Amino acid sequence: MANMMKNALVIGVGAERGLGARISARFAREGLHVFVAGRTAHSLEGVVQRIRAVGGAATAVVADATREADVQALFDQVCAADGDLDVAVYNAGNNTPGGVLTMEAAYFEQAWRVCCFGGFLFGREAARRMLPRGGTLLFTGASASLRGRAGFAAFNSAKAALRNMAQAMAKELGPQGLHVGHVVVDGGIDGDKLRKGRPEIVQKMGEERLIDLDGLADAYWFLHQQPPRAWTFELDLRSKIEPW
Ligand SMILES: NC(=O)c1ccc[n+]([C@@H]2O[C@H](COP(=O)([O-])OP(=O)(O)OC[C@H]3O[C@@H](n4cnc5c(N)ncnc54)[C@H](OP(=O)(O)O)[C@@H]3O)[C@@H](O)[C@H]2O)c1
Repeated sequence: MANMMKNALVIGVGAERGLGARISARFAREGLHVFVAGRTAHSLEGVVQRIRAVGGAATAVVADATREADVQALFDQVCAADGDLDVAVYNAGNNTPGGVLTMEAAYFEQAWRVCCFGGFLFGREAARRMLPRGGTLLFTGASASLRGRAGFAAFNSAKAALRNMAQAMAKELGPQGLHVGHVVVDGGIDGDKLRKGRPEIVQKMGEERLIDLDGLADAYWFLHQQPPRAWTFELDLRSKIEPW
C-alpha cells in the first residue's frame, strides 16, 4: 500500500515570530509532519511545542545549512521517518549589511555560504531524495534578490545568486517532476528579527509597512498546492505601501 503520510522540511527556523516558524506551522496545519531545522535546539523545540499544542506533528533537527555533512544527515533523518518528503523549504539567510571599503573577505564569503551555497546543498539533497516521485522545493528571497543597493553588496549578491540557482534548478529538475519556486520577500517582515532586533527600523518604517507573516506563509502553501501544468516559479510579496 502506498504511504499516505506526507512530510515537510523547513531549514532556517528560529524565533516563533519568524518566517521559518510560520511556514512550518502553516504546513503542519495542513496535516504534514514538519521537520524544523536550524542551528539552535532551544528555538526549534519552542516551535515544535507550539505546533504540537494545536494538534500538529513536528520534529526538531539541529543542522547548519552551510555544512554538507549536516545537510545530508538532515535529509537522512527526514527520509528515514514514516511518510514521503513532499515539500522542502530553504529559508536560511540573514541580512549582512556593510560597506565595500571596510568589508572583510570572510564576511562577504560567509554571506554567500548562508544565502547561496547552503541553498545549493539543500536543493541538491532535496532533488536526490524527492525524484523521481516529485515534490516541491521552495527558496526564500528578499528585495536583494532583484537589485543591488549601497551598503548591502554581500547580502545582495548572495541572494541574487540564490535566485539564479533556484531558476536553474527549476529548469533542470522541473521536467523531472520537482516544482522549484522562489519567494521574493520585498520589504521588512513583521517578526522578531525587526521588532526585537531592530526596533528603530520598525519605528522609522512604520508598522503598516511590515509584511504580514501569515500572508507570506500562505504564499508558500499556495505554491506547494499548484498542479504540474500550472506551476509558478516566483512570487513577490510586499505591503501595500512599500515603494518598489
Ligand atoms: N526579516 C526580514 O525583514 C526579512 C526581509 C526579507 C527577506 N527575509 C528573508 O527571510 C528569511 C528569514 O526569515 P526571518 O527574518 O523571519 O527569520 P526566521 O525565519 O525567524 O529565522 C531564520 C533562522 O535561520 C536560522 N539560520 C541562520 N543561519 C543558518 C544556518 N547556517 N543554518 C541553519 N539555520 C540558519 C537562524 O536561526 P539560528 O541562528 O538559531 O540557526 C534564524 O533564526 C531569510 O531568508 C531572509 O533573508 C527576511
